[in-house]
Amino acid sequence: MSARKPFVAGNWKMNLERKTALGLALSVRDSVGRRDDIDVAVFPPYVYLDEISRALAGSLVKSGGQNCCDETSGAFTGEISPAMLVDVGATYVLIGHSERRHVYGEGDELVGRKVKLALEHGLSPILCVGETLEQRQAKRTEQVVGEQIARGLAGVDGRALQARVTVAYEPVWAIGTGLNATPAQAGEVHAYLRGVLAGLYNEAAAERARILYGGSVKPDNVRALMAVPGVDGVLVGGASLKPESFLPLLDYR
Ligand code: PGA
Repeated sequence: MSARKPFVAGNWKMNLERKTALGLALSVRDSVGRRDDIDVAVFPPYVYLDEISRALAGSLVKSGGQNCCDETSGAFTGEISPAMLVDVGATYVLIGHSERRHVYGEGDELVGRKVKLALEHGLSPILCVGETLEQRQAKRTEQVVGEQIARGLAGVDGRALQARVTVAYEPVWAIGTGLNATPAQAGEVHAYLRGVLAGLYNEAAAERARILYGGSVKPDNVRALMAVPGVDGVLVGGASLKPESFLPLLDYR
């Protein structure tokens, strides 16, 4: 049995409205109850985060931001700082999600600065990495995710890695496409990433770090993906938007 506690995270992206977002958060809260064999977190749009964090306070379900700024405060119109996320009750923050990287052009250096600043402010970052279809076809998956993880974690010490950082492997070609990586494909990349962590830190740190899989996770594929050694949880987009498709993911066994 792995010492790593399974983690199911729902990334709501730019979806839902205030009322539906709150209702969904409450269903997740009630479904999780006092269950502590799994970590569960939801990532609402920024503007609903305060209200949702309050609704989840005292429960075992945590909340997080979908992104954050690499600066602490100041003239950065439209940005949200890690301190602000903490202020409204966030525990986690997604960093380097493929939509940030590929739609908004965020590079590894910026991603790395965000990870460090998030840690400094007490947030637990989820560093997302993943290759595009072209990169996979060119057999560059390991090179791409290896660089993303090394650069994303530059300057992060082993203690912070073990205690607070989660990695999410999300192949870009699998996000929102209905095409999930096969368990074998996920297993290969997760094993590779854990090896990279062992090289950057040490075996013990790598063994303790959680690596989630993301990309078209649904009730009908979650069990097979979660059964892969080294897959410690799932980061879910589309299926996290409704209780009917999100709650069954908590019972992946
Ligand atoms: P998806 O999104 O589950 O809709 O593919 C996953 C993600 O982007 O985190």
